[in-house]
Amino acid sequence: MNRGLLIVFEGIDGSGKSTQCRRLAELLNKKGIANISFAEPTRGKWGMKIRQLLEKGRNGISPDEELEWFMNDRKEDVEQNIKPALKAGKVVLMDRYYFSTAAYQGALGFDPHKIRADNEKFAPIPDRVLVFHNSPEISLERIESSREEKSAFEKRDYLIAVQNIFKSFSGPNIRYISSDPSLEIVYEQVVCEVQDLFEVKL
Ligand code: TYD
Repeated sequence: MNRGLLIVFEGIDGSGKSTQCRRLAELLNKKGIANISFAEPTRGKWGMKIRQLLEKGRNGISPDEELEWFMNDRKEDVEQNIKPALKAGKVVLMDRYYFSTAAYQGALGFDPHKIRADNEKFAPIPDRVLVFHNSPEISLERIESSREEKSAFEKRDYLIAVQNIFKSFSGPNIRYISSDPSLEIVYEQVVCEVQDLFEVKL
């Protein structure tokens, strides 16, 4: 199958993954490498329901429903965006993917490894997953300085549990990057961790 590359950015809120994802997209553009970026939760119908949940809190929704919404959002994203872009031979950059479901909904009590396996039945497996980690204190400081209020997903103990699950993933496509150093140093690390996927020097 004529397939592009799938590179995923994961990590707890405030870990700097979105910034690094944008910077890699800029670098690929500069090198003339066709790429497209997607983010989950999406702006589709399930993603918008999820965004309301993030704003208003988890009141009135069960963990099962929450998991279902994230799965539905991803199924839509896979069919409408990710698969067509990979088929067109593009480099697909994802700001969050199913490792987030395994970690965030896993921290609600579901088995993270089962969530990962369930996703891998329908979602293309990434060529590389960059998991950013830092001290939850740093994340919370970043979140607090950028927004007025923390969402239900950004409480300290919950983020610690989420990060512990992120750290439990293993596989040949997974790389861990500390985002405690400066943006520039982290960016160099990102380029270094994906270089082998490209024929040209990035
Ligand atoms: P985030 O990447 O912070 O989106 P934005 O920058 O647009 O606000 O994601 C929003 C929240 O959704 C984040 O706290 C993590 C959570 N999330 C899950 O709980 N499960 C998932 O499967 C995904 C994709 C995200």
